Amino acid sequence: ALISLRQLLDHAAENSYGMPAFNVNNMEQVHAIMQAADETDSPVIMQGSAGARGYAGEAFLRHLIAAAVEQYPHIPVVMHQDHGSEPAVCLRSIQSGFSSVMMDGSLMADAKTPATYEYNVEVTKKVVEMAHAGGVSVEGELGCLGSLETGMMGEEDGHGAEGKLDMDMLLTGVDEAADFVEKTGCDALAIAIGTSHGAYKFTKPPTGAVLRIDRIREIHAKLPNTHLVMHGSSSVPQDWLAIINEYGGDMGETYGVPVEEIVEGIKSGVRKVNIDTDLRMASTGAVRKFLVENPSNFDPRKFLKASTAAMQGICKARFEAFGSAGNA
Ligand code: G3H
Ligand code: 13P
Ligand code: NA
Ligand code: ZN
Repeated sequence: ALISLRQLLDHAAENSYGMPAFNVNNMEQVHAIMQAADETDSPVIMQGSAGARGYAGEAFLRHLIAAAVEQYPHIPVVMHQDHGSEPAVCLRSIQSGFSSVMMDGSLMADAKTPATYEYNVEVTKKVVEMAHAGGVSVEGELGCLGSLETGMMGEEDGHGAEGKLDMDMLLTGVDEAADFVEKTGCDALAIAIGTSHGAYKFTKPPTGAVLRIDRIREIHAKLPNTHLVMHGSSSVPQDWLAIINEYGGDMGETYGVPVEEIVEGIKSGVRKVNIDTDLRMASTGAVRKFLVENPSNFDPRKFLKASTAAMQGICKARFEAFGSAGNA
């Protein structure tokens, strides 16, 4: 059944587990997530980004998730809109049936320029008013996602930087977080603790100086009833990285957020953990390998099946590690 983010994360908080929130763009990702959830008896959060809506189209994306709800009636599913760049984007998702939306007011509507605190409060509050009137949950974001190691926002390929940020924006302040939640009434809050989007997060396995799990603890102590969210939380699996490069790919050395650190984050109050890159890497590695090993194949169902199986493995491992397994 389709449920709201608030309902699911309240249950997660009561039972001390965390929820992976997987980005979806195509049917294979939806299949992989649902098969893993069914196997492990886990609830599900699937989220669509602006990029996903541009790729699949809003209606296709929504119906793919609706198909999952129909085929797996015993599994609670949250249909979440990831990183809304302005209130109008969130309003359209609310109207089309999403049970949760993210208003990312940490950046201006161009999704690049850091916004002022006042702007962030204003747009997030506006979305909370609209969404709550319809029983839809709202995630806000305070602080800008970016690497505490390099100062960079997420990068697509590890070569071209998309933008350097002031270091003080990269770590969410404790008092500001409390003020933000009081003023906006958001259900969940994404915080900046040194993670960034994409595969190129850290040049070496992260230490506590660049991955500030301690800050989660401090914010959670002040805001025990707000569900904290970690973005940019792919682990960048080294085994899939090696397979991608072994079968013709060219990805540079890079490290993600270790699963053990995410588990620490969950113990410290994180309830939603956003993951996109890990499924992309598993899919790419599996398809590259399959096509190299089966050069005569021209039936996409064959290599897409390999993609689905690889992504399913990641999903299952996260449901188990974060403790959502057994909670459907
Ligand atoms: O927010 C970042 C997610 O990984 C979505 O990425 O905009 O390329 O779909 P995307
Ligand atoms: P990753 O790029 O680490 O998978 O992060 C995804 C994310 O935060 C989507 O909002
Ligand atoms: Na989100
Ligand atoms: Zn994100």
